Amino acid sequence: MSKELIRLSKCSMAFDGEYVLKDIDLYFKDKEFLTLLGPSGCGKTTTLRIIGGFLKPISGDVYFDGVRINDVPPHKRAVNTIFQKYALFPHLNVFENIAFGLKLQRQNGKKISKTEISERVLEMLDIVSLKGFEKRDVTLLSGGQQQRVAIARALVNRPKVLLLDEPLGALDMRLRKDMQNELKRIQQATGITFIYVTHDQEEALAMSDTIVVMENGEIQQIGTPEDIYNEPKNAFVADFIGESNILDGIMHQDGVVEIFGRKFSCLDGGFAKLEPVDVVIRPEDIDIVDSSAGMLRGTVTSITFRGVLYDIIVDFHGFKWLIQTTELYPVGADIGINIDPDGIHIMKKSSFSGMFGDYSSFSDEYENISDAEFEFEPMEDVERTEDRG
Ligand SMILES: Nc1ncnc2c1ncn2[C@@H]1O[C@H](COP(=O)(O)OP(=O)(O)O)[C@@H](O)[C@H]1O
Ligand SMILES: [Mg+2]
Repeated sequence: MSKELIRLSKCSMAFDGEYVLKDIDLYFKDKEFLTLLGPSGCGKTTTLRIIGGFLKPISGDVYFDGVRINDVPPHKRAVNTIFQKYALFPHLNVFENIAFGLKLQRQNGKKISKTEISERVLEMLDIVSLKGFEKRDVTLLSGGQQQRVAIARALVNRPKVLLLDEPLGALDMRLRKDMQNELKRIQQATGITFIYVTHDQEEALAMSDTIVVMENGEIQQIGTPEDIYNEPKNAFVADFIGESNILDGIMHQDGVVEIFGRKFSCLDGGFAKLEPVDVVIRPEDIDIVDSSAGMLRGTVTSITFRGVLYDIIVDFHGFKWLIQTTELYPVGADIGINIDPDGIHIMKKSSFSGMFGDYSSFSDEYENISDAEFEFEPMEDVERTEDRG
């Protein structure tokens, strides 16, 4: 995984004069699993469509193996796509679904032989763990099995690159997890470059070699899952990936940051003297101690049981932090906290500063993220009664 395979150079896209991609510079390495991650509308699908050749950028260039391919149509690119709605042919069995594309192909003007088609389909069935399923009716397969057939159908053409646009979106949680592992395994077994689109940060962290975080048609950060999680570049990335307390800080010197008027040791440096910065502290990096022994003192305002641990919200001078703890602290408890230097991450101020990081509305957020259909409605003054049947 070293050679550069695809490059987008200063690619921009606009619809009706509205820019949805702004000067994207990005390269994809051969055999890597790269994920485009970001909230809905940030430009992930548009980027994928440009790579697939379904859209032409209004400016900028697309290169494949060093050759400019802006004008090469989709079917002449060594790229295949799996969309969220992967529509199998219902009247064809598993074998025929996978063989469909191969039967239409010509190699040097000649059809691919029946033996070769059969060999390649069976090899694919093996790779997607559907050995023995060739005669099955696709309409009778489970969602996960249908997904595997769709993957086999895309991979049997031996593309150099597979584009996957939120392919697991329709599956339930358990199956999603299984298929994440499957996809990673299939990618490693075939050595095909996967470019994967998702808005789900957990999915991105679990599967990717490289994550590209996007927002507002721009790349916010490129890195390994560990880089992105441990060293977020700005407040947007810190908030989008995992849970983060994001605070205003002032850098006094390398390794010393001031938060809430207190100086803390950190590992970061390279800032101007007294430069205002954003400080990220992950909820799992905070140690709770006796209130008299803490670097900061606060009051617990809410508790959410999460199985292995509790999420508690703690009020420090009106700013609410999220802290994870295995011990229960009751609402109203005064606690102290300590943070090790490696739990404090310093970021440059950006256009996202001040937008994230306070957990005042945490329980609402909880309800919203667990309900995909959620739309905010003004609260009505209705007495809630509990219906227990
Ligand atoms: N064909 C189109 N015509 C007009 N606007 C579009 C079109 N395709 C995408 N957009 C807009 O471009 C933006 C980015 O869309 P998209 O790339 O689909 O985002 P994502 O996949 O990250 O959710 C959105 O604001 C979307 O409404
Ligand atoms: Mg999309």
